[in-house]
Amino acid sequence: MGLRKSFGPTVALAGVDLVIHRGEAVAIMGPSGSGKSTLLHCLAGIMKPDAGEVHLLGERVDTLGERRRSALRRTRFGFVFQFGQLLPELPADENVALPLMLGDVPRAQAVRQAASWFGPLGLAGMERRRPGELSGGQAQRVAIARALVTRPAVVFADEPTGALDQATGHETMRLLVEATKHNDASLVVVTHDPHVARWCDRVVEVRDGHILPPAPDVNPWQGREVNAR
Ligand SMILES: Nc1ncnc2c1ncn2[C@@H]1O[C@H](COP(=O)(O)OP(=O)(O)OP(=O)(O)O)[C@@H](O)[C@H]1O
Ligand SMILES: [Mg+2]
Repeated sequence: MGLRKSFGPTVALAGVDLVIHRGEAVAIMGPSGSGKSTLLHCLAGIMKPDAGEVHLLGERVDTLGERRRSALRRTRFGFVFQFGQLLPELPADENVALPLMLGDVPRAQAVRQAASWFGPLGLAGMERRRPGELSGGQAQRVAIARALVTRPAVVFADEPTGALDQATGHETMRLLVEATKHNDASLVVVTHDPHVARWCDRVVEVRDGHILPPAPDVNPWQGREVNAR
């Protein structure tokens, strides 16, 4: 049994089996329209698949109600999208602190915790800048900090470097992979960057809603994180 999802007559996922292990960085690649974003959204509990199962830390995610899935996304997952979706009116450190404050961490503590991410991500001194005062690469690094600040089990990223020039994109991707590894989080990243395999543990190729080739699960690591079948 695999993950299936259709939009009307369009089959976006035609039976996908994918296991993401703890701490593993997986790149999802494939042509436009092949189903990459749909797969990511199903794994992350943003979208319910028509068929198939998604498990996280032994819990089945796809059958949870919207309330529980939303809590899961907030507490166990981090997200980075193509355009970082930072709030333009908030300075960078408060953007990063936001997920902590949503989790009831007091504001001052949340901002302090958020600020500790700026140095390691090469953003020292940028704490009080608003997103409009940052370069594209800097803004995406702020988005990476925001995704990691709650120390999630899994980070989901959909073309996080898609809007950046190649050199900045490479550097941002490297930082994303390094930072998630450093935090023992798994990473599922959709990208068109052919060099990404350099930093990820595994590249999964998607074609027409299928994973190619049907990769045998040869990873010896224990401790399943996300398991879609
Ligand atoms: N909300 C939707 N309504 C209708 N069709 C959709 C919807 N979302 C995706 N699709 C269709 O499902 C298929 C897979 O889309 P998906 O967004 O997963 O592709 P993708 O691999 O992420 O492409 P891209 O690289 O362009 O982002 C496409 O044919 C797309 O048109
Ligand atoms: Mg997409």
